[in-house]
Amino acid sequence: MEIREALRSRRSVRRFKAQSIPESIIRDILSYAPWVPNHHVSEPWRFVAITGQSLEELADLRRDAVLAKRQGQPDGIARAERARAEFLEAAWVIAVIQKLDARPDRQKEDYASMAMATYNLMLVAWDYHIGSYWNTGPLLTDAAVWQWLNLSEDERPVAFVRMGYPEIIPVTRRTPIEERLQIKR
Ligand SMILES: Cc1cc2nc3c(=O)[nH]c(=O)nc-3n(C[C@H](O)[C@H](O)[C@H](O)COP(=O)(O)O)c2cc1C
Repeated sequence: MEIREALRSRRSVRRFKAQSIPESIIRDILSYAPWVPNHHVSEPWRFVAITGQSLEELADLRRDAVLAKRQGQPDGIARAERARAEFLEAAWVIAVIQKLDARPDRQKEDYASMAMATYNLMLVAWDYHIGSYWNTGPLLTDAAVWQWLNLSEDERPVAFVRMGYPEIIPVTRRTPIEERLQIKR
């Protein structure tokens, strides 16, 4: 796919077909993640590609994390079950993990590279006609999830990216750039 077409046509996909994605494709997609601007070439990332039984475990953890956050709310249980079902619909979930630099300025710059690395995954997936969805929410701060991912003290998850073949490709909009652009000569 031509790069401009990929940038314009990629959408965040919420609904996936019940179709698996070979591990070889996931490995290829991930191989593009590091090829982003990265100050000091610090390479602050680590990825965990999750499928099968492990994805079922993570889906359960997501349900529990959402439930804990929404305890007592009338729709808490329904939202938690929906959160679990969303993960189970994906063929894979990629946990994107940042190694935290002790220096706040470096940590901030590293996060910029983490976001770009995550976007690289999503774009290369799109090139394979694979949809993806960037999730944050309670999973990012949940102690049981950190333990499940075997995070060390200086690591934090920054994204959980659901991947699968799209069932529905949403339509969205963007403000024309002319409304946000000033040219100074
Ligand atoms: C840092 C970041 C965090 C996000 N977290 C969530 C999330 O937790 N839940 C969610 O529904 N969407 C989340 N999204 C996805 C956005 O909602 C989505 O990218 C947006 O709707 C634009 O859609 P598009 O990617 O199809 O253009 C996140 C996106 C980013 C960049």
